[in-house]
Formats: sequence, structure tokens, C-alpha cells
Amino acid sequence: MSDYECVKLAIDGPVATVQLNRPEKKNAMSPTLHQNMVDALTEVERAGDVKVTVLTGVGDSFCGGMDLEKCFLEPFSNPAEFERVNVTAFTWFKKLKYSPSVTVAKVNGWAFGGGFELVGLCDIAIAAEEAVFGLSEINFGVFPGGGAMWATTHNLNRKQALYYSLTGATFTGREAVALGLVNQAVPAAELDAATQRVVDSLVKKSRLALRANKQAYEKSVGMTFDDSIEFEMAKLAELWYLTENEWVRQGLAQFARREYRPGLEAFQLEGKDGRPTRRGKGALPRARRGSVKLEEKGEA
Ligand code: ACO
Repeated sequence: MSDYECVKLAIDGPVATVQLNRPEKKNAMSPTLHQNMVDALTEVERAGDVKVTVLTGVGDSFCGGMDLEKCFLEPFSNPAEFERVNVTAFTWFKKLKYSPSVTVAKVNGWAFGGGFELVGLCDIAIAAEEAVFGLSEINFGVFPGGGAMWATTHNLNRKQALYYSLTGATFTGREAVALGLVNQAVPAAELDAATQRVVDSLVKKSRLALRANKQAYEKSVGMTFDDSIEFEMAKLAELWYLTENEWVRQGLAQFARREYRPGLEAFQLEGKDGRPTRRGKGALPRARRGSVKLEEKGEA
């Protein structure tokens, strides 16, 4: 557990939990909080084996957006300081977006402007039904910036993106599901348990496969079908190499022994994050002719 001034970080094996911690300011993002998030996400990256990063807020708010006073009003007359604050913010927004771990937003309350952006940048989002989302920038005379418009256009369809950014209208966690911004909404009292179920499912998967899955998704969105086939096959070959063919040695070998049903559950990871166990090293199991059975030798 590392406690920064405005951020709480707990790393428990494959799961990192990052909490924005300015509850008295609805977790509005101050310059200090931005710097704390750069440091906290760097700590998560350095831990090396984190599979899932949960982002949430302390208290009754997820994130009230940029601190309108400390990030905008106060440094506005000092361009160098204004720029420094922005650069620090964008540094961790990019770290969040490109995190090698799966990022899960646990939206426990208010999510405005930059807070809405954080939800949009995360890979998965679970919200309290009572949470309130909004693109409030128009209410003080600007429009969503600093990646907030990107997060809007990449999570909401055109009509909804324009409606919510032009009117500043708010919507609830339940409505956020229909809009596609969050995956699930549950009563606030069930938010921890619902998030934990998703986290439990993710940590059973290979860390390197999770990471490659994210990379393949992000790239294929902007590719032609033909290019994407090439890219996906190259990424799969990279994954096979990095895991020393974990999917064959473990995933398919366990299936051949009928130890699990892949349609319903994940195979049992035997090494640390797909690294082979000593017993698992060596020759790949070869399929027997005319049979799905794999040679037992050296595969378990
Ligand atoms: N920047 C600075 N201070 C904030 C922010 C913010 N984004 N959000 C909340 N606070 C402060 C409030 O000013 C208040 O401070 P005070 O105690 O010194 O008066 C404190 O947090 C508590 O907030 P209240 O307004 O008292 O709480 P309430 O429950 O009534 O309302 C709400 C919560 C709706 C979130 C309200 O605080 C609000 O409208 N905040 C601004 C939301 C917003 O528009 N964010 C900017 C998005 S744009 C961007 O991120 C670029």
C-alpha cells in the first residue's frame, strides 16, 4: 500500500487498486493529484505482474473532473504553470489508456468532465446505478478537451455524444449502460461485489494474453480486415513466443484431458503468468494421429 497525498494505491498480487482521494472536493483532480497518479501508475507498471488495475474514488464521488480552481483558474495567468499542469495530467491519462493491465473503472458516484474521460479511457466500467455522469464543460463556456472529447466519441454514438456535450445534461449509471459507456450498473451496495466478480474472472487469465488482447483490439479498430488478419497473427505468434506456447502446453493440453470446458471457464494457469513451470519446459506436446489426445510427456 502506498499512500500519496491525494491517491491511495494498493497492489495485491495481480490486482492494483487506485483510489482518487480528495473526497472533500468530490475527488476533483488537482495538480498534486495528477502528479500522484503519474507516480502511482508508474509503481503499478514497475510491479510487473499486475493483471488488473481498478480505478475508483474515496467517498461518494468517482471524480468531479479537473479541479476548476487549481488547474484552470489559479494557473491561468501563468502559461508555463498552466502547461505544466496539463502535461502532468495528460501523462497519466496516457498511462491509463495504454496500461499493460486491464483497467476497470469502479464508478461509485459523480463522474464529470475529466472524470467522465477516465471512465471512457478504462477498458471496462462497472457503475453504481445512482452514479451521475456529465460533460459539464459547456456549462462554463468551453467544450470537453484534454482527451475528454476523444473518450466521448469513442464510447458514445454521434447523436448521444453531441447531445450530452452540447447540453451538459447528466445521466445515471443505469443510463450509462444503455449508452455503452459502462458495462454494468448495480445498486451502490453491490458495487464492490460486482467489480470483484469481474476482477476474479480476469485474474484467472494469462497476463500476457490479456495484454495482447488489448493491443489487438486497439490496433484492429483502425485497420482494414486484411491488415488486421496479418497483425493478429503476428501478435499471436509473439504471444506464443513470450509464453513459450502456454496455450498449447497448458490450455489445449488441459482440454485434451477434459479438465475444463473452454466455453465456460479458463484453463488452470500452471506457471507464473504463463511462464513455463520447470516441468512444463521442453518439447511441445504432439497431437496423436487421429486423436485430440496430446502426449502426456512433459506437458503438465
Ligand atoms: N473543481 C474544484 N472543486 C470542486 C470540483 C471541481 N471540479 N467539484 C467539486 N468541487 C468542490 C466544491 O466546490 C466544494 O468545495 P467547497 O467545499 O470548498 O465549497 C466541494 O468540492 C464539495 O462539492 P459540492 O458542490 O458542495 O457538492 P455537491 O454534492 O453539492 O455537488 C457536484 C457535487 C455536482 C459534483 C458539484 O460539486 C459540481 O458541480 N462540481 C463540478 C463538476 C464539474 O463540472 N467538473 C468539471 C468538469 S470539466 C473538466 O474536468 C475539464
